[in-house]
Amino acid sequence: MKQQLLNIDAEAKKALEGINTAAELEEIRIKYLGKKGELTAILKQMGSLSSEERPIIGQLANKIRASIEDAISKKDSELKESGLKEKLISEALDVTLPGKKQVLGHKHPLTLVLDEIKEMFLGMGFDIVRGPEVETDYYNFEALNIPKDHPARDTQDTFYITENILLRTQTSPVQIRTMEQKKPPIRVISPGRVYRSDALDATHSPVFHQIEGLVVDKGVTMADLKGTLEMFAKKLYGEDSVVRFRPHHFPFTEPSAEVDVMCFNCHGKGCSLCKGEGWIEILGAGMVHPKVLSICGIDPDEYSGFAFGMGLERLVMRRYQIDDLRMFFENDMKFLSQF
Ligand code: DAH
Repeated sequence: MKQQLLNIDAEAKKALEGINTAAELEEIRIKYLGKKGELTAILKQMGSLSSEERPIIGQLANKIRASIEDAISKKDSELKESGLKEKLISEALDVTLPGKKQVLGHKHPLTLVLDEIKEMFLGMGFDIVRGPEVETDYYNFEALNIPKDHPARDTQDTFYITENILLRTQTSPVQIRTMEQKKPPIRVISPGRVYRSDALDATHSPVFHQIEGLVVDKGVTMADLKGTLEMFAKKLYGEDSVVRFRPHHFPFTEPSAEVDVMCFNCHGKGCSLCKGEGWIEILGAGMVHPKVLSICGIDPDEYSGFAFGMGLERLVMRRYQIDDLRMFFENDMKFLSQF
């Protein structure tokens, strides 16, 4: 029995040498030290020993158990250490490597120019107001003195949601909402999205942006309108800009005008930018129609006002010489990163 015990000791130590994984180690532990293991099997035969032999074998068995346990735990820490080393090598980080540069976003060209325009008008004492994009027929047409048979009301031009609810076709309804809510003096601009039932091409889009302007006070005249727009054009296109008013018709202004700036490219001679005209139309404007003032509860005998409205995309296209309006909406990084 003594020899059996010594054999188990030798075998177990030998088996431990050849292993590389924790699973194998556990197998060995069970094989030699487990409840059904070889050492236990021998100890179960102790009953057949004489009373002199029993303590000697017992002692030896305990010694061998302790020695195998020791060898197993040594192997265990060896395995853990080499595993850790491998892990450290395979997961090594070079903390001295330079970091990857993050791409920083920036403002869209439409926002860049809109921000500039807002600054200009804020500097002239205007407030910035907003109105809803889903509007009623009343604010978009009726209150602006746009008659029922006006071509703009055709479903070919306007996106109707119901008979009376639509996507606003212009920012002019914000004029009405503003005059309903506050009493003169009023000085506001209102930028925002507008919608028209147009097919998308290089110069048309079913959604685009307008900037509306409205001033109402005692004694406001056409000269104030001219002065304001001249100042605006000079700030936007340079101090030597020349502005011209051409008579026009808008239902909500009387008199009405279309406003041109002298082409900043050819200075009035005519070139490809201004299509040979020498002038570029930038906005529509006029004196607020007395009917519109009355509709909003403002007495036209006491107050007068001017209004203007412009398309943002066209301004920005000219500013950066962009010839296709679709570029603004496609979010192509190659285009956007140029601004
Ligand atoms: N709402 C007009 C349009 O979409 C533009 C416009 C013209 C606005 C004259 C005005 C104005 O405020 O006075 O074509």
